[in-house]
Amino acid sequence: MFSRIAQVARVPLAVPLGVVSPRAVSTWANVPQGPPDAILGVTEAFKKDTDPRKMNLGVGAYRDDSGKPYVLSSVRKAEELILSKLLDKEYLGITGLPSFSQAAGILAYGEDNAVIKDGKLVIAQSISGTGALRIGGAFLERFYPYGKKIYLPNPTWGNHIPIFKDSGLQVERYRYFDPKTNGLDVAGFLEDIKNAPKNSIFLLHACAHNPTGVDPTQAQWNEISSAIKERDHFAFFDMAYQGFASGDSQRDAYAVRKFVADGHRICLSQSFAKNMGLYGERIGAFSIVTDSTKEKATVESQVKIVIRPMYSNPPLTGARIVSEVLNTPALKDEWLREVKVMADRIITMRDKLRGHLENDFKSKLPWNHITDQIGMFCFSGLSPAQVEAIQNDWHVYLTKDGRISMAGISSGNVKYLAEAIHNVTK
Ligand SMILES: Cc1ncc(COP(=O)(O)O)c(C=O)c1O
Repeated sequence: MFSRIAQVARVPLAVPLGVVSPRAVSTWANVPQGPPDAILGVTEAFKKDTDPRKMNLGVGAYRDDSGKPYVLSSVRKAEELILSKLLDKEYLGITGLPSFSQAAGILAYGEDNAVIKDGKLVIAQSISGTGALRIGGAFLERFYPYGKKIYLPNPTWGNHIPIFKDSGLQVERYRYFDPKTNGLDVAGFLEDIKNAPKNSIFLLHACAHNPTGVDPTQAQWNEISSAIKERDHFAFFDMAYQGFASGDSQRDAYAVRKFVADGHRICLSQSFAKNMGLYGERIGAFSIVTDSTKEKATVESQVKIVIRPMYSNPPLTGARIVSEVLNTPALKDEWLREVKVMADRIITMRDKLRGHLENDFKSKLPWNHITDQIGMFCFSGLSPAQVEAIQNDWHVYLTKDGRISMAGISSGNVKYLAEAIHNVTK
């Protein structure tokens, strides 16, 4: 009788032990090549260009007037303060740093907002705005009782579509931009709100709409709020640019606060990437307005259950920086001034770009939309062929939809850009 081990050992092995069996096809042979990211792909092409006049107007990150990344002085001071405290590096709780979330909530909803004062706001620190949208998508997919349709503006930030699809929601679109006027198609927007099935989810850019730079006026927001209420829709606000649009963080929060005042139980994604220049720190917040403190407790428990298997708990540093800035009155004042400086620089570049096109290059085309639009981006109206031409002939890089990141323009290159735009559009 052979022992079991001996029996196994007697079976001739096709492949000696320790050698991996060769397969006819590799395990990953059927993985298709994915397309490059539409925005990051522009930067890749830009990096390869050796022309000294080249301009990267693709990526939405602020640059100072010499084209350099900008770290805010209030942020630097906050970092020094944090360093001097010799804090530990323990894990945060699932919903993050409480002093951060509290301050982020006040910044968005307002100091005296009843939803905060009455303890009805669920708020969780998130991996910047993208992470907040993803938590929101997952939460709605799991708990929104009236279906899985989410309506996004057309056009919208490219990442919104995969974020909500990956969350298991069904993405629909509503009319937003009118290419004839390069402005808001408010009639189309309101009609689509009316025609969507009752209780649909509407994703709204709170300010500085990306990619168009076209925002509703306050009067239009009032109308939109009523129309959404009439159909019992649910509003999901994405506020990635608070303060960056007008230079005034209170003003930029108008839509969010108006909806809450009108009785909407909204949810909200916030990002501190742009307005505090904390891009790589990945700091943001996701919040939901609930009906009562009891409901707050149940919703919060489920938001935690959504987050825990995604990334367990959020990172420390960005939250500490934002908390220090917003909770230290002198730093908060300095930050508010710095946001205004950034917003004003962009507004100045809009004026100059339009001025050069109209006055120096005598373009016959209408360019009022450059100064009518707001925030980081200008939806220039350049066609895909013109975008290609401006890249090939002028070394100016922007996304195929003609979106210009205004933050990439400086006093030194704005006239060159106007010349390039004029040449490819005349
Ligand atoms: C409309 C909009 N939402 C959300 C984000 C998220 O950015 P982040 O994840 O860097 O905060 C962006 C960034 O470009 C954006 O434009």
